Amino acid sequence: MRLGIIGCGAIGTDVAIAADAMSDIEKIYLFDILPAASKKLCLKLKKASIQPVEDFLSEVDVVFEAASQQAVTQYAAKVLEAGKDIIIMSIGSLFDDSLRKKLETTARKHHRKIYLPSGAVCGIDGVLAASIEKLDSVTLVTTKPPASLGKTVEERTVVFKGNARDAVKEFPKNINVAACLSLAGVGFDETKVEIVADPVETRINHKILAHGRFGRLRAEVENMPNPNNPQSSYMASLSAIATLRRVMDPLQIA
Ligand SMILES: NC(=O)c1ccc[n+]([C@@H]2O[C@H](COP(=O)([O-])OP(=O)(O)OC[C@H]3O[C@@H](n4cnc5c(N)ncnc54)[C@H](O)[C@@H]3O)[C@@H](O)[C@H]2O)c1
Repeated sequence: MRLGIIGCGAIGTDVAIAADAMSDIEKIYLFDILPAASKKLCLKLKKASIQPVEDFLSEVDVVFEAASQQAVTQYAAKVLEAGKDIIIMSIGSLFDDSLRKKLETTARKHHRKIYLPSGAVCGIDGVLAASIEKLDSVTLVTTKPPASLGKTVEERTVVFKGNARDAVKEFPKNINVAACLSLAGVGFDETKVEIVADPVETRINHKILAHGRFGRLRAEVENMPNPNNPQSSYMASLSAIATLRRVMDPLQIA
């Protein structure tokens, strides 16, 4: 399989290094808006070369996006129109209903898939299954060290309380998990989100609380920050690598 990567930052680097070691991956194409980032990553890999997205699209089987919401707007439809699958990390971009519907329609037309890794959060599988029946309430409580939210606070402070749509608009880089949870469960308008900045916290804590016809769910993860980007949880990279494996593996744990 040949893999294209858009975004060579913390997650793109972790995924590229893992993919470089996978026997199923023959070739990796890299693109970053900052040429220095793709060059730095390319030097660490055996199977990689650097090319603009438009140039590598005809060569690849799947594209992995780990760049920004803007990159999703710019490239995702092109990837699907070229008949390739895409794995999207900047899931917050999908709060835009018209973009999301356009991507879904394009994927259907070209018989392609849009993979959304569960990312930094745990419990998405349960919410997805529970959403088959009526879900009464889904809430995400995220607690982060203030610096990773770009805040300076002396004590535990609730910096956001509202729905997921507003959360991903206000914190486009920090709360992709709210977007993934919304799409798995009750949507962007009904999913409740609370974001807390806590100076005592050294890890990134995500807690999902849901109840409905199935019963009650409570899933919590305490993530270590990614060593290359303290705003990202290392779990997000691991989840991305697991999704890439899923794209290739015959055995699927759903
Ligand atoms: N789904 C999740 O759970 C989850 C978790 C963490 C991060 N994320 C998201 O994944 C993305 C990557 O995260 P990261 O921690 O690797 O970030 P990062 O800042 O370390 O790396 C992003 C890289 O993408 C590049 N980039 C930005 N815009 C681009 C564009 N339009 N075209 C090409 N390259 C572009 C940047 O130059 C940078 O090198 C972000 O959007 C982040 O919000 C998702």
